[in-house]
Amino acid sequence: MKFGLEGKVALVTGAANNGLGRAHALCLAGEGASVALLDVQACDETLKLLEEKGIKAKSYLCDISKLDEVAKVLGQIQKDLGSVQILVNNASILSTVGMFNDISPERFRGDVEVNILGTVNVTRSVWPHMMEKKWGRVVFISSFAGTHGGAGQTSYATTKAAVIGLCKSLALEGARFNITANVVAPGVMKSEAVQNFIRGDMLDRMIKKAAMRRLGELHEVGNTVAFLCSEQASFITGQVIEVDGGAGLFTF
Ligand SMILES: NC(=O)c1ccc[n+]([C@@H]2O[C@H](COP(=O)([O-])OP(=O)(O)OC[C@H]3O[C@@H](n4cnc5c(N)ncnc54)[C@H](O)[C@@H]3O)[C@@H](O)[C@H]2O)c1
Repeated sequence: MKFGLEGKVALVTGAANNGLGRAHALCLAGEGASVALLDVQACDETLKLLEEKGIKAKSYLCDISKLDEVAKVLGQIQKDLGSVQILVNNASILSTVGMFNDISPERFRGDVEVNILGTVNVTRSVWPHMMEKKWGRVVFISSFAGTHGGAGQTSYATTKAAVIGLCKSLALEGARFNITANVVAPGVMKSEAVQNFIRGDMLDRMIKKAAMRRLGELHEVGNTVAFLCSEQASFITGQVIEVDGGAGLFTF
């Protein structure tokens, strides 16, 4: 099946690292979309990979928690590439780890500001254009921690659960404008961020939790995202798709 995204403009947030944002960008571009990359860090490497494949792409520095920065960058994307029809809300702070009492109010608030309010800022900036064009695809990248909770991840899990409520509400509001909104909740992936996070025997324990007994490949999430952004997924909205190798299944 071809997903046929030729002529579509996709915005992927959080695409600087060798992580999921890069994978979404490459998978969307592989289906023909032109891609805007947005991150608080430079996305040079991701941009280079896209340009080498002959993809029309641009990258933008922006802190998604700052609404004025987001509005300015979205104006620039519109000028450079056109109206955003596909939004992948992937940017996130993943590094706040500690038992509940040890996570300071400031760090908890910081996660809320980026992972929830930053996601709202970016979505708010593209939503009216999608409504006007009567077509849109929004994908929120949540997490296994958002659907199941995570010990030592109270603030992260809280923010990742919040985007599910945002998504389902927008799915209801967007349906009459032919806009779909879905959540993809990955399990543990082979990403740079996970490599930096792993301590002791954590990796082994994580692998054992998944029915498939392995980490996910980044493109396995990217391909799911590309499908949800295609015309083929036109009747799927308000769903949470767990791409986690069966980590949420009961096992013993
Ligand atoms: N890697 C995994 O195993 C895994 C599992 C479940 C969910 N996820 C989710 O997938 C997404 C990508 O994770 P990743 O593993 O690729 O990690 P990552 O750290 O490589 O990606 C997150 C990106 O968000 C950017 N970012 C952070 N704060 C920002 C801000 N204020 N403004 C703009 N950009 C900002 C970072 O610079 C980074 O490039 C995240 O939403 C994460 O919660 C990842």
